Amino acid sequence: MKEQNFKIGTVEIPNRVIVAPMAGISNLVFRVIAKEFGAGLVVMEMISDKGIYYRNQKTLNMLKIDPREHPISLQIFGNDKESLVQAATFVQEHTSTDIIDINMGCPVNKVIKAEAGARLLLDPKKVYEMVHAVVNAVSIPVTVKMRTGWDDHLFAVENALAAESAGAKALAMHGRTRMQMYQGKADWKVLQEVAAKLTIPFIGNGDVKTPKDAKKMLEEVGADAVMIGRAALGNPWMLLRTEFFLRTGELLSEPSVDEKVKMAKLHLEKLVQFKGEKQGIYQFRQLASYYLKGIPRAVKIKVAINQAESEKDVICLLDKLSY
Ligand SMILES: Cc1cc2nc3c(=O)[nH]c(=O)nc-3n(C[C@H](O)[C@H](O)[C@H](O)COP(=O)(O)O)c2cc1C
Repeated sequence: MKEQNFKIGTVEIPNRVIVAPMAGISNLVFRVIAKEFGAGLVVMEMISDKGIYYRNQKTLNMLKIDPREHPISLQIFGNDKESLVQAATFVQEHTSTDIIDINMGCPVNKVIKAEAGARLLLDPKKVYEMVHAVVNAVSIPVTVKMRTGWDDHLFAVENALAAESAGAKALAMHGRTRMQMYQGKADWKVLQEVAAKLTIPFIGNGDVKTPKDAKKMLEEVGADAVMIGRAALGNPWMLLRTEFFLRTGELLSEPSVDEKVKMAKLHLEKLVQFKGEKQGIYQFRQLASYYLKGIPRAVKIKVAINQAESEKDVICLLDKLSY
């Protein structure tokens, strides 16, 4: 059995449960909650190198880190070496991030058109050059997150080894190609091949839905850590239960309806504090449906939350679900 903690470069990670970066979701509030529920490492939502270059205010606001978040990884994406390097040096100087992660997996058109994200996966040489340039420019550990490939022409092992030889200190791989987007099942066989080849820590990602899946990712795929995304949406208990299961072999029970409602209210309150009432409520709407998933009578409440305009109204609606 693996020890609980491990290292990414010089950074000590207390356990093997990592929270995936999720644009529009992994803001400071979400990440602090994830930490409080036992995540060993949180990765910030992707931040554009161009946004940093032009000092776009929205982008700069995304760089804020709370002291409770450490160790934390800040993810950047970009299409050319120069601006990626500039972004990396900027975040090293102006934020307290422990790790810089390069996004090479983003499948959305806006990012692909800029020849960034998963587009880089068509050329292991380009992967090497990008990672090498960033590694040379900063002193904190650099990691890479990628998909298994662009389409059927997988260069999963080649790309992973290119990142490693360029100096990446860990590599996370989502077991889907760009063309798959989020469809089909994550291919853990490919992840296993990559895990067997790398010497740096390998972080397995894709379809880890239960604590038992996490154990499989570590023991059968051979990953050093597991990255959890969608399963933690509205369900920070997934992180707590996974960490506990990996440590003790015991499965904690699922949260009660009351616990879910209480947590949803807390998440809303923190979002409103952080983003203001309008933006906070707007962001919470998406999360509400995750928090309330599977709760009897929640459908009508979710619809009403989508129309509510004050924090007080949303809280009143949520309270209707408590017993
Ligand atoms: C809403 C959403 C936003 C995402 N944003 C990012 C992102 O900013 N950077 C990134 O590398 N991956 C992003 N991803 C991909 C996830 O990090 C992860 O690789 C993927 O969801 C598969 O893991 P899962 O099956 O545990 O969800 C995003 C996924 C979702 C669902």
